[in-house]
Amino acid sequence: MQACGGTIRGFPDAADGRNRRCWPGEETVVRSVVVGYGTKRGSTREVAEAVAAVLRERNFAVELLPAREIKDVRRYDGVVLGGALYRGRWHRDARRLLKRHRGALAEKPVAVFGMGPRRHEQEAFERSRNQLERALAKVPEVKPVSAGTFGGVDRERRLDVRDWGGIRAWAAEVANAFDAASAQEPSTDGS
Ligand SMILES: Cc1cc2nc3c(=O)[nH]c(=O)nc-3n(C[C@H](O)[C@H](O)[C@H](O)COP(=O)(O)O)c2cc1C
Repeated sequence: MQACGGTIRGFPDAADGRNRRCWPGEETVVRSVVVGYGTKRGSTREVAEAVAAVLRERNFAVELLPAREIKDVRRYDGVVLGGALYRGRWHRDARRLLKRHRGALAEKPVAVFGMGPRRHEQEAFERSRNQLERALAKVPEVKPVSAGTFGGVDRERRLDVRDWGGIRAWAAEVANAFDAASAQEPSTDGS
């Protein structure tokens, strides 16, 4: 017999029943999420992998893909989009995805993150944050449930300022926000 995981429409009490068995005819809805990333040198992909791992622990069905390979976001219940910041701009693949799919993304929970800066200074973090905000401001109809900046990697100086604890905590918050969004979805059985 198939184990029921995720949200079970029409059986709100069973929503947490990860290891429950299904009743005949019971519909199981696995919430699907795509984690897309735009990277030049790989550090953003590693962060996307960590975010995907946390979401999987929380029972989401996760696809991890380079942002440029995501052709249609409508098939996912939620979208996480990350991109490296370079010379003041969010990675082109992340910007393009946000712009091209703005209509569909405006309709579903979206979380975004930016990578940078390469130094541990508060001022540098604020600059990176503003750079991400600037990219988001160009597509105002998409209102992320959360936007994070996590520091980046300086390969020349062999410095990694990524905040892994912060990254995992952020991913857990995103899982909570996606859970809340799916709980608000209108039910398909008219209840
Ligand atoms: C040439 C260069 C320019 C950068 N410009 C910025 C920037 O404007 N803002 C920022 O926050 N980080 C900046 N960074 C830091 C990168 O975002 C950081 O190294 C990140 O980890 C790179 O991601 P990737 O490995 O996925 O390509 C820059 C890095 C390099 C090498």
